[in-house]
Amino acid sequence: MNSAERYTSITLRSTQDNLARDVRQELTGPIKSLPCKYFYDPEGMALFEQICNLPEYYLTRVETAILKNQAARIIELCPSELVLVELGSGSSTKSRYLIEPCLARQEQLAYYAIDISPGGMENGVWQLLQEYRRLRIVGLVGEFADGLSYLATHASGPRLVAFLGSTVGNFTEEEIARFFTMLRHHLRPDDRFLLGVDLLKNPTVLEAAYDDSQGVTAKFNLNILARLNRELSAKFDLAAFRHRAIFNHERNRIEMHLVSLRDQRVRIGDLGLDIDFHQGETIHTENCYKHSQSQMESLLACHGFQVLSRFTDPQEQFCLFLAS
Ligand code: AVI
Repeated sequence: MNSAERYTSITLRSTQDNLARDVRQELTGPIKSLPCKYFYDPEGMALFEQICNLPEYYLTRVETAILKNQAARIIELCPSELVLVELGSGSSTKSRYLIEPCLARQEQLAYYAIDISPGGMENGVWQLLQEYRRLRIVGLVGEFADGLSYLATHASGPRLVAFLGSTVGNFTEEEIARFFTMLRHHLRPDDRFLLGVDLLKNPTVLEAAYDDSQGVTAKFNLNILARLNRELSAKFDLAAFRHRAIFNHERNRIEMHLVSLRDQRVRIGDLGLDIDFHQGETIHTENCYKHSQSQMESLLACHGFQVLSRFTDPQEQFCLFLAS
């Protein structure tokens, strides 16, 4: 079979995101914020790819190294005739490390890539199909819950569900609880869950990872305002806001903000709205929570997951949890 015959793309349900409604709600409250999911338009996705290759942004590099070294062991701890599922697969760059040991012990492999945005998926998928002739890929475009419901009726056999990149770090504790509950509901006893988590560490290292010397993360953060200019006819002057990334010690999280450099009024044309900012006021755009290994293990246990093994790098910067 050629690559095209081994690839199916299915749009499950159009996303329920509503940029206009969310922007109105979040920018008119007493504390201004914007949901971080709006970073990822095509420009934002390209900037995020660049972030993943920055010297200061160790997360991708360290997680990839752990996967490279430990993937065979991870797969050994999973039942045979496995189906691979990746939540938030993006361009599927890391999945190859799991695909290889699967294909070393089984004839065929089905890989289900679930992502909210179809854009990033395609390139990576074709590359994988070219490289691995015994691989079949189903791209599921939609919310994670819809993707997992689809799998309940379409994918037989034990599954390894991977959620990598420390995306869980962008969830609040309530969001983690909702996510783990949803996941547990969809998983069967012989399924496995592989979770990538960035660990708590020296705040200087963390702040550098989110405020790099080349200014890519600053561009990524400011792109959310550029997106409002493009999509909602807003009039943000990007030069009048500055990127800030600080570690919040009480909450163990990096906070990303956009700081207004002067008193200003910004028109958001499509919403018929004027937003006033005073100098120094910020728009809170993202939280990146950092967890200890024991804290994440208890969170998993609270939601019915049993950790089978943890895989870390020598400096314990990042951890992959394999749970059943
Ligand atoms: C997608 N997520 C895991 C990234 C993180 O590290 O929290 C997003 C990011 N924000 C700034 N740099 C990277």
